[in-house]
Formats: sequence, C-alpha cells, structure tokens
Amino acid sequence: MNHAKIIGTGSYLPKTILTNKDLESRLDTTDEWIVSRTGIKERHIAGPDEKTSDLSYEAALGAIASANISPSDIDLIILATTTPDKIFPSTACTVQARLGIKECPAFDVQAVCTGFVYALTIAEKFIKTNSAKNVLVIGADRMSSITDYDDRSNAILWGDGAGAVILSASNEVGIISTHIHASGNYEELLHVPRHDKASHIADTIEMKGNQVFKIAVNTLDRIVDETLENSGITKSEIDWLVPHQANIRILEATAKKLDMSMDKVIVTIDRHGNTSAASIPLALDEGVRSGKIIKNQIILMEAFGGGFTWGSALVKY
Ligand code: UT7
Repeated sequence: MNHAKIIGTGSYLPKTILTNKDLESRLDTTDEWIVSRTGIKERHIAGPDEKTSDLSYEAALGAIASANISPSDIDLIILATTTPDKIFPSTACTVQARLGIKECPAFDVQAVCTGFVYALTIAEKFIKTNSAKNVLVIGADRMSSITDYDDRSNAILWGDGAGAVILSASNEVGIISTHIHASGNYEELLHVPRHDKASHIADTIEMKGNQVFKIAVNTLDRIVDETLENSGITKSEIDWLVPHQANIRILEATAKKLDMSMDKVIVTIDRHGNTSAASIPLALDEGVRSGKIIKNQIILMEAFGGGFTWGSALVKY
C-alpha cells in the first residue's frame, strides 16, 4: 500500500454569480475586453456569511461521498487557502470540527494559487511514510474578500469556490510525481500588503498582471519539462491537463507546449474565474463528474501563483 491514489473528488461553488455585464455597469470595462484578455465570462461570489470553511465543508462532503468512506476514516486534513476564516485557528481545524472527525491532524497550507498542488504533495508524503491512510485535501478560497471591486484590473479576475479530494493509501499507482518550487524575489508583482488598521485601507490584491503573465507562461513551460523528464511519461501519454485557471491564454500556452489540443484541457475559467487554490480541484471534480476523466487516465495538474510559487502533480486517476 505504498502508493497514494485519489479515490474521491468534490467541489462547491457559491450560488451568487457575478457576470461581466454586472461588472460593465460598475467599472470602466467591457465583456469583450474581459473575455478576449482572460476567457472569463462569470464567477461565483460567496455570500456575506459564507466563509472559506463553509465552501470547504461542502466540497469535503462531496469528496467523502464519492470516495465512499465516512468522515471517521479520515486521518489527516490539509487545506490550501489564502483566505482563511480567521488568523487562527486554521480553517482545516474548523472543517475538522464540522465534519465531526476526532483528533486527526489538520493544518492549512498557504501557497496562493499553487496551494492545492502543495497540499497534494504534502499529503502524498504522509501516505508514503505510512503516517496517514486517508487524507482529505482541500483547495478553497474566498478571493472576493481580498478583491478591490473598484480596481478593474483585479475585480474581473477573481472568484470564490472550493474543491476537495480524498487521497488514500493504495496498491495501485496514483500520484506518479509531484514538483513544487518557490521564489520569494517577486513579492511586489503579486501580493496583498497589510495596511495599518488606522489607515482604513483594505488589504486587497495588488498585481502587475502583465509581468506576472509573462513569468507564469515561462515558468509553467519549465515545470512541464521538469515533470516529463522526472516521470518518464511522454506528452502523448497525458490524457488531461487540469491546470490552475488564471487566464485562458496561459492555459492555451501550456497546452501548446504539451502538443495538446484544447479539448484535452479541463477549462472552467469561463464560469469560475480565478479561484486560486480551489481552481484545480474544482476543475478535477468537474472533469470526473462530467465523465471526461475516467479511471487509469493520466492527468497533469499545474499551477503558478503568488510567492511566486509553482508546481505540478502528475497523477494516474
Ligand atoms: O493566478 C495567479 C497568477 N496570476 C496570473 O497568472 C495572472 C496573469 N496576468 C493576466 O492574466 C493578465 O495580465 C491580465 C488579465 C491581468 C491583464 O491582461 P493584459 O493583457 O496583461 O493587460 P495589461 O495589464 O497589459 O493592460 C492592458 C490595458 C491597459 O490599458 P493601457 O495602459 O494600455 O491604456 C489597462 O489599463 O488594458 C487595461 N485594462 C483594462 N481595460 C478594460 C486593465 N484591466 C482592464 C479591464 N477592462 N478590466
């Protein structure tokens, strides 16, 4: 049982939808600009009382049901988020309590848009060292809580949601390889600075989008090479690309690098926007539930985000 396999997926999106038309009425922007520059048409926005733990809990229930296990079978919870409910306790602890799981370790991981890949990587290490058998891995973000809706370059991008998987010890190959990196040298290009409370300035995302875009495309290019070299898997063996959804043009660049047609890419950005740590597990769950992704297929997940952080996970589903 020394492999780590995804045995269940789940996801949750808040009910309220913010369309490009809605944004057109408040900001100096157009649906045409947003769709052509990002691929986004709409995004889901959490209600005022809907917290990251609420989104996570719903996604976790879906993953637990599809894995056909009970919450008490879970012996570790890792939750990737940049928008925790509170400074502490971790949102993972809040989710653990809501699921009624007793005393299993639970912690958050903060790697912004790469958070889910980081969390999956850590979960795999626990399983491979026999330290856990069934890990609940969640990617959840409430990006609307750190978005300045007067800033057109950011307001159009971000959405809220959560996705989850159950990663379990297995005799069958599941995760083939994981690769994670960070470089703290680019902090000023993408960050949420903390302002003094007395200044009454909200702590919201600041991004030099165009510079981030170029670095993201080049870095994802390198992580694809690294993943293929280390795993011994060839481009043509990959059935699905399940990427972090930041911009349709970034997804297209990665697909091109893999000599892959776009119909082999799970695309959710048009309906979800950029949901940060939630985007990969949301896309994975959609791919599985729609019947596109089936057992034993090879999936490449990759992400790039604030930090900068980036990474990939190559998985036999
Ligand atoms: O997920 C974490 C990592 N994040 C990313 O990977 C995001 C990467 N970046 C991007 O996706 C893109 O850079 C953006 C979508 C954020 C921006 O697209 P862009 O093509 O790089 O546009 P830009 O920032 O170079 O701006 C071009 C023009 C500017 O006007 P001027 O200076 O040329 O007159 C902007 O002010 O577009 C303007 N602009 C807008 N116009 C209409 C910026 N936002 C908007 C808007 N509507 N919402």
